[in-house]
Amino acid sequence: MTEQEAKKELESLREALNQYNYEYHVLDNPTVSDFEYDKKMQELKEIEESFPSLIMPDSPSQRVGGEPLDAFKKVNHRVPMLSLGNAFNEEDLKDFDRRVREGLDADHVTYVCELKIDGLAISLRYQDGLLVQGATRGDGTTGEDITSNLKTIRSIPLRIKDENPIEVRGEAFMPQSAFLSLNEAREANGEEPFANPRNAAAGSLRQLDPKIAAKRQLDIFIYAVGEWESGTLATHSERLQYLQELGFKTNPEWQKCDGIEEVIDYIDNWVDQRANISYDIDGIVIKVDNLEAQEQLGFTAKSPRWAIAYKFPAEEAVTTLTDIELSVGRTGVVTPTAILDPVKVAGTTVQRASLHNEDLIKEKDIRISDTVVIKKAGDIIPEVVRVVEDMRDKELEPFSMPNECPSCQSELVRLEEEVALRCINPNCPAQLKEGLIHFVSRLAMNIDGLGEKVIEQLFREGLIHTIADLYRLEREELLKLDRMGEKSVQNLLKAIEQSKQNSLEKLLFGLGIRYVGSKAARTLAAHFETMENLQKATLDDLVAIDEIGDKMADSIVRYFEDEEVEHLISELKKLGLNFTYDGPRAADVSEDSPFSGKTVVLTGKLAIFTRQEAKQRIEALGGKVTGSVSKKTDLLIAGEDAGSKLDKAKKLDVDVWDEVHLQEVLEGESE
Ligand code: IVH
Repeated sequence: MTEQEAKKELESLREALNQYNYEYHVLDNPTVSDFEYDKKMQELKEIEESFPSLIMPDSPSQRVGGEPLDAFKKVNHRVPMLSLGNAFNEEDLKDFDRRVREGLDADHVTYVCELKIDGLAISLRYQDGLLVQGATRGDGTTGEDITSNLKTIRSIPLRIKDENPIEVRGEAFMPQSAFLSLNEAREANGEEPFANPRNAAAGSLRQLDPKIAAKRQLDIFIYAVGEWESGTLATHSERLQYLQELGFKTNPEWQKCDGIEEVIDYIDNWVDQRANISYDIDGIVIKVDNLEAQEQLGFTAKSPRWAIAYKFPAEEAVTTLTDIELSVGRTGVVTPTAILDPVKVAGTTVQRASLHNEDLIKEKDIRISDTVVIKKAGDIIPEVVRVVEDMRDKELEPFSMPNECPSCQSELVRLEEEVALRCINPNCPAQLKEGLIHFVSRLAMNIDGLGEKVIEQLFREGLIHTIADLYRLEREELLKLDRMGEKSVQNLLKAIEQSKQNSLEKLLFGLGIRYVGSKAARTLAAHFETMENLQKATLDDLVAIDEIGDKMADSIVRYFEDEEVEHLISELKKLGLNFTYDGPRAADVSEDSPFSGKTVVLTGKLAIFTRQEAKQRIEALGGKVTGSVSKKTDLLIAGEDAGSKLDKAKKLDVDVWDEVHLQEVLEGESE
């Protein structure tokens, strides 16, 4: 293919892919299958690989792949990003309307009502039709440049049809479904879940590595224009229409309202409807439609006089708390849960709400049989707000947590600086059961066919007590269990047997050592290579590893000091579990490894590997990765847009590879 042909082909692929993307992510109306999309994307990437100089900023390949930053650059908002005054009831709204009418000397004003999306405000700047900068609101005057993270949001166009400079503003958010699945994955991985979709969206956009934001399924609604010198439209509603024509995703629920009474009707309707949409809103924004009128009204120090935010009251419901259930987690923490008479809140039926710990129960003086007010925090997670004391039966006793573990009856303790009560009996059946559920889970040993229900049965029947017992299960015993036929027993035994071959990190994560999540388990496995080495590791050995902090190191050392743990590990060894790391090794590098003893520099945008990954893999093969090119550099890996480091390497006659070559070599090594 000649360069001329490639250019033409790329132009047509870009246009088609951007159009498909728009139809899918903005219009929610795809016209091609994923297969066709992927095929075209592959074609585009292949041509771009052969002709890197033809990669355009609006190429769909440019959405992901920016390299991790060390810090975000500051961005000055030339038109400040202000916040809005609040209204909480009809009276506040009528006061606002009165102030607006007085300011304009008018009897009657047309407003635009919009949903107040619960996310975070961002600004997008376009020049010559191309997205050139995306920023957070920050303090309103100075925000942070998060362009590479925002580019990963598919509903943000990389190119628009207006060549004049324009800055638009909107709200980035995480749809509820994405939030729920993200938290599920985080919990499975031993990570703290996000409290609500807004925190999750903010956390995602604050990541220095855009590959993380890319995985988070964020979305955006554009609701305003910031700096726009060439703008000529007369009303906010015309601007919303124009933004939509340009390819931006605007929220379709906006409405023009004649006077404040219509505004109040719109709000009333959304108080009921808000449960039926797939993203969180926390109110309604009311804006004067006419732009000249907006200008006439102007701003106070903090917010415009021509707009206000009506904030929804959190939806609450009243029900009876029929019981407080106590459960023991795998680390021994005893968590109280309120059992409620089923009640509908914000669209779903609520029957349980976590009470977190004893302090919270005391603080709110929650008693069994109380009438309680329930709400959903962030409109998702049920919470007991307060007790309706007037309705309390005088006979009710205050609730007190038991002194004994509900599962093994050993005495509960409250560790220093912790609010939680803990069962510290390492043989507590509830902890063992939860530990086993964790051990077989996907990110740990990944044993198919061993769900919670089966584990519970195995426990009840006394067939397993420890992890090691899993590997001693026999066909006849399993056949006696409910719903276990010949075929499922065979499959289960096969899955258990296969899990013995898992690489060390899966076993390490599965053991459930406190603070060791699946990522840390991998780091430990890659570093120590065998269980025996890790068992011998000292605190100093552990904290010397970048990603391992004091708390985790301490917990690991203490774990392996325990006699029962020692016994368990030796049993697992006898049972034939693999105790070695199967990924790339750190020290066991053959002399003829292509990186052995070499100093390597990475530069430019990497598309196949993350920087961290490329670094780890080169180091695993005996290379040393440094930051700058010098006479000591043996090899430069140049990604896209490599700049001064590439020039310097050429001058110093340093070997240069592109990323594809790096991949070929790495793959050759791991065979
Ligand atoms: S207009 C000059 N419209 O609410 C004010 N804001 O307290 C321009 N928000 O910081 C804001 N949905 O993050 C506007 N449809 C909407 C909105 C909206 C959410 C957020 C935005 C802003 C805050 C105002």
